[in-house]
Amino acid sequence: MHHWDCHFYANRFWHPVAAVTALRPGQTLAITLLLQPLLLTWPKGSRPRAFRNRCPHRGVAFQADADTATSRRRLICPYHGWTYNLDGALQSAARESGFENGFDRQAWGLGELPCAIEGPFIWVALTEGAIPLEQQLALIQSTAVAAWSRAMEPRGQAHRRLTCNWKIAHDNTLDDYHVAIAHPTTLHREQGPVRDYVHRFSRYVNLLETPHPDGGLFQTFGLPPWTHVLVWPDGRIALLEFLPEQALQCTMQLQLFAPTGSVDNTEAEAWLRQLLTFLNEDKALVESAQRGYDDSFHPGPAHQLEQRILHWQTLYREQLLEAGMVNLDRSQDAISALRA
Ligand code: FES
Ligand SMILES: [Fe+2]
Repeated sequence: MHHWDCHFYANRFWHPVAAVTALRPGQTLAITLLLQPLLLTWPKGSRPRAFRNRCPHRGVAFQADADTATSRRRLICPYHGWTYNLDGALQSAARESGFENGFDRQAWGLGELPCAIEGPFIWVALTEGAIPLEQQLALIQSTAVAAWSRAMEPRGQAHRRLTCNWKIAHDNTLDDYHVAIAHPTTLHREQGPVRDYVHRFSRYVNLLETPHPDGGLFQTFGLPPWTHVLVWPDGRIALLEFLPEQALQCTMQLQLFAPTGSVDNTEAEAWLRQLLTFLNEDKALVESAQRGYDDSFHPGPAHQLEQRILHWQTLYREQLLEAGMVNLDRSQDAISALRA
């Protein structure tokens, strides 16, 4: 997060940080979200909570990031031993009687962040100012009911560094105009004939729904801040995010989930390979588009198959306006150029 406007934008929304099945009561899991060290805990008899993975004494992390959660009753800081329970309360500090002006344990609880379970994921917001999570997920909760309510296990993941701004990559994944041309033997096969495309919108979420060759519907959701949820008729879910990095770079993060026990290793590998094939096709296109952009470039007209892009860009503009971070006239120009 190096751009202040992007930082504000990221703080307005929730982030899927782990599968619900990745954490059990009595466990903790350290993760990094947008360069910020976080600690997920699930106190027994309670619900998952999210804290800054940062000891209030001198800022050191309680534990290192890991792929899997660990069971522990307490969090013990490796620096001077301050000890917390999984609810974030300070239980003891080493040599408490030696503090200069007395010591009040209650004043030194862990910094907590909003955390919730929705669908198969644990979601975290980086501030109290995020929109309600139900709003952010409105269309998913109502149209992907079967997949969204099942227990999912992680079945694969991949990361790619893209040499482009995250907005170009996010736009591309919302772009239903390019699929038949740019992905004829990959994604296009999954999404089928363009004439069958159906678009749906909620305030924050947009959806492309297509009949799947195996029967049922294939659903491609776009949601803020930079997230895509692909849902197959058999309940498999792919979570695709374009995480901002420094200027003109982002990280594509792909995570696959399947209903517990439904996809074996061979199938999981084939599924991942298949998705990476079309995502590599996109990588070449978005990096090329980035090289083509500069102040002298004025984008061509928007096609109706690009309406999910327009929906999201309007949302993005609103967020920047709300933060007072963009000049209204200039932003209107950019959007009307796309709508012309
Ligand atoms: S930094 Fe954690 S106890 Fe000092
Ligand atoms: Fe694409």
